[in-house]
Amino acid sequence: MSVLNFSSIHLVLLSSLSVVDGYFGHYEMRCGFSSKDPHDVEFLIQVYGNKKLLVQYNSTTEECTVYTQWMKNFTETACKGPAFLAERREEMKKYCSSNVPVVYGYLLDKTVEPYIRLRSVEPFSTRHPAMLLCSAYGFYPKPIRVTWLRDGQEVTANVTSTEELANGDWTYQIHSHLEYTPTSGERITCMVEHFSLTEPKLYDWDPSLPKPERNKMVIGACGLLLGVVFIAAGLIYYRKKSTAGGVLVPTMVLPESYGAI
Ligand SMILES: *[C@@H]1O[C@H](CO)[C@@H](O)[C@H](O)[C@H]1NC(C)=O
Ligand SMILES: *[C@@H]1O[C@H](CO)[C@@H](O)[C@H](O)[C@H]1NC(C)=O
Ligand SMILES: *[C@@H]1O[C@H](CO)[C@@H](O)[C@H](O)[C@H]1NC(C)=O
Repeated sequence: MSVLNFSSIHLVLLSSLSVVDGYFGHYEMRCGFSSKDPHDVEFLIQVYGNKKLLVQYNSTTEECTVYTQWMKNFTETACKGPAFLAERREEMKKYCSSNVPVVYGYLLDKTVEPYIRLRSVEPFSTRHPAMLLCSAYGFYPKPIRVTWLRDGQEVTANVTSTEELANGDWTYQIHSHLEYTPTSGERITCMVEHFSLTEPKLYDWDPSLPKPERNKMVIGACGLLLGVVFIAAGLIYYRKKSTAGGVLVPTMVLPESYGAI
């Protein structure tokens, strides 16, 4: 499986709601997991008041963490002791151990591999002459890691990334920028790790690929060609008109894009 830590996949099992005098309380039981191995599961019980986390039980430490002062007395008595822990272990076995392998299999079934595009773009600032953009499109599930390597070493400085953006269907996309100063002979790589990939995918930047300047040159060249065609057409029109003894000063209408070149 991938090196990614998938404890960020949480299965919310049970949620109970109560409203008293406009006070809105609920709790959640969660199984966090990164593989289908039941030993890998982290069981959490979270108690919320008005959507604010008040207390959390964590099966890894077998302790409760209190996030608000007035719950302190409650947790000091109710949230510990052998009977309490035995019940929580039982719950974890009941809810997580049976469900996680099923959900894991379901996720594996539904995964969609990201489509990766690596390209050169205009830098954000003038501090660096070059910027690369590595985009991952259309992947599922959400957790993903996009990192940059320079000659095999991870680069963290001058990297900016978007969040995982929802596409509106159930897939996601993410974009990571690397601002850098190119040096000859170096190898810049975009590395993508995702649930759908059995190992990280590496995309090496090929500096001979079109840069934005070159793209502009190509567009410019096309525009120029178009301009030449129009001039030629204009001249033919002019000659036809003049041989016909008609208008002597024809108006040559150039396409708008020609003027922008
Ligand atoms: C639960 O406790 C473990 C060990 O301290 C910790 O690594 C983990 O992040 C905790 N989980 C949550 C959701 O806080
Ligand atoms: C918590 O318990 C202490 C004594 O153990 C008591 O003095 C204090 O008033 C209690 N706090 C609340 C909010 O009940
Ligand atoms: C990141 O950019 C700063 C300038 O903005 C530069 O001084 C620094 O060396 C860069 N870091 C790396 C690792 O390239």
